[in-house]
Amino acid sequence: MNTVIYYYSATGNSLYAARFIEERLPDAELRSIPEEMAAERLEVQADRIGFVFPLHYLSLPLQVEEFIERLSLKESPYIFAVATCGVPYWGRPFLDMDEILARKGRHLHGMWFLRLVSNYLPLRDTAAEWRINIRAWFAYRKLQNIVRSIENKEHHATWQLLRDMCRRYHEEWRDRQRSIDENFSCDTEKCTSCGLCERICPTRNIVRPEGHPVWQHRCVECLGCLHCCPAEAIDYGGVTKGRRRYRHKEIKVADLLHDFSNA
Ligand SMILES: Cc1cc2nc3c(=O)[nH]c(=O)nc-3n(C[C@H](O)[C@H](O)[C@H](O)COP(=O)(O)O)c2cc1C
Ligand code: SF4
Ligand code: SF4
Repeated sequence: MNTVIYYYSATGNSLYAARFIEERLPDAELRSIPEEMAAERLEVQADRIGFVFPLHYLSLPLQVEEFIERLSLKESPYIFAVATCGVPYWGRPFLDMDEILARKGRHLHGMWFLRLVSNYLPLRDTAAEWRINIRAWFAYRKLQNIVRSIENKEHHATWQLLRDMCRRYHEEWRDRQRSIDENFSCDTEKCTSCGLCERICPTRNIVRPEGHPVWQHRCVECLGCLHCCPAEAIDYGGVTKGRRRYRHKEIKVADLLHDFSNA
């Protein structure tokens, strides 16, 4: 009984959750969504297929949505999804995913929000350490239950509140995508030209002709570049200056970098 788990993660919350599930299921395999997307044809055949991703503006990250649209699912597997987030239950990620799957004659069987820490630094500073630790403890316990449910192929639904408002909010965000990276700036005095921002970007949106990042207007606002920069040289407008950068404690920067060498 094999399981394929697709994950998408900028600051490690979703990778932590995906690994947690993968390590506890026999014959499970993790696959990075941005790296998989480089392939021309996307096809999967497994007994269980999972998607683990962050909540972005109350629904799916744009690349996750595109990936599921493109993915061809063979036979009738058990399909599950976990959305990591700062605030659970507000949003419609599973409704939107189910709509895409329904067009392929498939449905989502298990769905869970997993509360960790918000990495949306433009809105507010990273949570205090004690809060991060408490959330990690609750998340650990919830993940144990999620694994049990997936193992038994249980059906599991969840609340998704204020669906119409969330759709509007998400669509407005989508409409702003092309210009979103105009908010980013790099302090070239601080930048050491290490290249991590370029390697973490899931859309290959960063080039560095003179060592420091230049954004190419293909941003999906994952915030990987901003959080991973060891020199804290990247900011989003003026609002992120002085705010604490975030990464899940059990995930290294190296785990979040993308390898597009086969693309
Ligand atoms: C563009 C963007 C939008 C976000 N929107 C929401 C949201 O609507 N609700 C929420 O609870 N968290 C939101 N977050 C926070 C992330 O969902 C949360 O921190 C997630 O666990 C990050 O996962 P990752 O570390 O795997 O990238 C948002 C983060 C980003 C970057
Ligand atoms: S990660 Fe930071 S220090 Fe490294 S190249 Fe990018 S901006 Fe410069
Ligand atoms: S430019 Fe930064 S925020 Fe935008 S997609 Fe790339 S890593 Fe994510």
